[in-house]
Amino acid sequence: MKKIQLSQTGIDVSCLCLGTLRFGTLNTYEQSAQLLDIYLEAGGMFIDTGNSYNQWSANGKGGESEVVVGRWLRERGNRDDLFIASKVGFGYGEVPDGLAASTIISECDNSLKRLGIDHLDLYYAHKDDPRTPLEETLEAFHSLVKAGKVRFVGASNYDAWRLADADAIATAQGWHGFTCIEQRFTYLRPNPGADFGDQRLINQNLMSYGDARGKTMLPYTPLLRGAYVRADRPISAAYAGPDTEARIAALREVAQELNATANQVVLAWMMHRQPPLLPAFSGGRPEHMQENLGALDLTLSTEQMTKLNNAGHCVNEEPN
Ligand SMILES: NC(=O)c1ccc[n+]([C@@H]2O[C@H](COP(=O)([O-])OP(=O)(O)OC[C@H]3O[C@@H](n4cnc5c(N)ncnc54)[C@H](OP(=O)(O)O)[C@@H]3O)[C@@H](O)[C@H]2O)c1
Repeated sequence: MKKIQLSQTGIDVSCLCLGTLRFGTLNTYEQSAQLLDIYLEAGGMFIDTGNSYNQWSANGKGGESEVVVGRWLRERGNRDDLFIASKVGFGYGEVPDGLAASTIISECDNSLKRLGIDHLDLYYAHKDDPRTPLEETLEAFHSLVKAGKVRFVGASNYDAWRLADADAIATAQGWHGFTCIEQRFTYLRPNPGADFGDQRLINQNLMSYGDARGKTMLPYTPLLRGAYVRADRPISAAYAGPDTEARIAALREVAQELNATANQVVLAWMMHRQPPLLPAFSGGRPEHMQENLGALDLTLSTEQMTKLNNAGHCVNEEPN
């Protein structure tokens, strides 16, 4: 699997990041280990988990995904070959919501314990916390880098202006600021005003900010949880916008031209952007994983990228 530099860190990571949100809850240990093995065999080394994964599953409390990844790391003995990201910010169980310094520090230790490792390669603020001063949050992350428990700090689910504030503070204080940005993003454009709760999208503002500052952007839920190809999982109303039909048609045309699937074209489209996006994707079954990894073999022509980019009118570009 191709590697690309993560932001301006000088560190190369896989161009596809494997998300483990459902591991240990919706996927058993054995199923999860199989999916991890398939990703690893394809050359992948960038794994995304979170302290609260997967409290959103009916059988989850939080912590299950890290426990599964930790067991797999121990069994394979491959921690040093991997780049492991986790997150803090969503409350679960006794752990409070938000990014108070005490939560960041204690949850880092809890994540390291569940994963059975001595440092995280990347530690994300999982969502913005407007009640805690950015200074407190950033200083706590910085102290973890200084202590050797974290190599890089990332942001997830932030508005661009808050990232700009955070960068200004980190620069002024000489702290390790947010290196990269993980937000929701797919090929379809959401309806104007669609409500995603705490989730924030990669939008034009964020893209131009990330590009200008050389920050890698990682789209999560890139495949809309299978909705591009699955009759049992229709595309949600949040994406039923005026240009949806045209975007789906373009996706199908390009997929047909390449003898590929819609999922593969979505991931390839992201990876072909300049600078590239780095999708955090997953697959529920081995055949999903194999299909999705097939995106790595696709080459999109300039014409195909233009067709995909220009399909449908851009609802955000209408004059006021
Ligand atoms: N920072 C954040 O706030 C945040 C939020 C969400 C996710 N994430 C991260 O991003 C990762 C990916 O998110 P996601 O799981 O929502 O993304 P996704 O890749 O859009 O969805 C993955 C799910 O889609 C289905 N799927 C995938 N490939 C398929 C295929 N080829 N055919 C049919 N169905 C397919 C499977 O569902 P089933 O398992 O149901 O079959 C799979 O579990 C997560 O694991 C997590 O690490 C981060």
